[in-house]
Amino acid sequence: MHLSPFTGTYLTDPARVWRELLARPDDVHHAEDLGMWLISRHEHVRQAFGDADSFGNALTLAPVYEMCPEALAIVMRLDVPATTAAADSPVHTRTRRALRATFANTGPRVAAQYGPIVRRRVDGLVEALAARRGEVVDLIPEFTALLPLLVVLDILGVPERDVARIRQWADGQIALVWGRPEPAEQVRLAQGLLDFWHYCQDLVARRAEGDLDGDDFISRTLRYRDGDDEVLTVAEVASMAFNLLVAGHETTAGLLAHGLEQALSVPGRWRRVAEDPATVPAFLEEALRFGPAIDGWLRVTLRPVTIGDVTIPAGQRCLLLIGAANRDPAAFSAPDRFDPERDDAKDHLSFGYGPHFCIGAALARLEAEIALVRLGTRLPALRLVPWHEPQFQANLAFRSLRALPVSEQRLTLISREAK
Ligand code: HEM
Repeated sequence: MHLSPFTGTYLTDPARVWRELLARPDDVHHAEDLGMWLISRHEHVRQAFGDADSFGNALTLAPVYEMCPEALAIVMRLDVPATTAAADSPVHTRTRRALRATFANTGPRVAAQYGPIVRRRVDGLVEALAARRGEVVDLIPEFTALLPLLVVLDILGVPERDVARIRQWADGQIALVWGRPEPAEQVRLAQGLLDFWHYCQDLVARRAEGDLDGDDFISRTLRYRDGDDEVLTVAEVASMAFNLLVAGHETTAGLLAHGLEQALSVPGRWRRVAEDPATVPAFLEEALRFGPAIDGWLRVTLRPVTIGDVTIPAGQRCLLLIGAANRDPAAFSAPDRFDPERDDAKDHLSFGYGPHFCIGAALARLEAEIALVRLGTRLPALRLVPWHEPQFQANLAFRSLRALPVSEQRLTLISREAK
């Protein structure tokens, strides 16, 4: 069968494609044009995420198309050791232990350690938006993509002056690996990725030369390492920073954008957010289920493995369609209805499942909750411009809205010409 993730319906209405896949009688499909197996049912996506002996991560961060030789030559110079999303055991067991020790990942630890950073950043950005009342503002560059990046920079102890280039590098990595750029663009993005890696190496090397008393993630991880390469090498610390700088912001940006789009697109919903902040966590959980920021994630089979009625041979790339799994009628009642009051939303697979379960889930939830509550309180009359139509970036993994134009209802009369 064919899946065209880079054109057509998948860019405007991916749920239609997921529905069609889920309705087919066969459990798993081979997409010839992608050279991948598509796993879409909730039960099977969970099985694949949970079974690290059969589904490996070595190719999770490898490009999903054949790269041109010039770009490949540059990428081959990336000597990044696999630590998180691209690592298998026993390396992953060791690096995950380090990550759990140095990166807050439970609700209470995240609130205590990162809460003040998040609140400060949310307040700064919300006040900047409030100062622009009356204008049409695109929330993607001004808020949803910026907030998580500023937060992750603060957590890692990275200077704010580098925000623009880190954003470019991170966007570039996502386009290079899971998009389908033209050859000239591949070369440009590959060079950016190499520069990004050198930047992270440099960041960690400079931190390692100073005193390590800081409270930032890099200092903490270097302290945890305590000079012992068997615990963690310096290159592995740099690799973790490299991964967190991308994983920590592009994803939460998606949750914020999809959540805000849902909240603003139905009359009365935004008011409820503003008037009853206690409803926000359940609202966000449903936003995670309904429109996951990563809706396809990759594994490679380490041995022949049977999924439903199909046996996938060893060495095959598999696309775990999280977006489809989250809409599987076998797991969710009325799956295509956005319903913040449903009681099965928590079964979504948007943060993965099993040994690689997202280490940043608690941070993402906290950030999105504080952001929505603060925005709702400060800008209760926010609304989407009437001409907004969701359009997504062409990407196999990351589902990013291209734009989210809003204004404050009371103060602006929006016409199509204002676009
Ligand atoms: C809404 C926001 C987020 C979503 C939807 C998301 C989604 C995911 C998914 C699907 C995975 C793969 C899980 C698996 O393979 O089983 C993952 C892993 C990961 N995420 Fe997140 N993520 C989010 C936020 C964050 C944040 C805020 C951070 C850190 C600051 C983060 C760091 C990571 C890391 C390091 C991994 C790799 C973990 C491992 O391999 O052990 N993520 N995330």
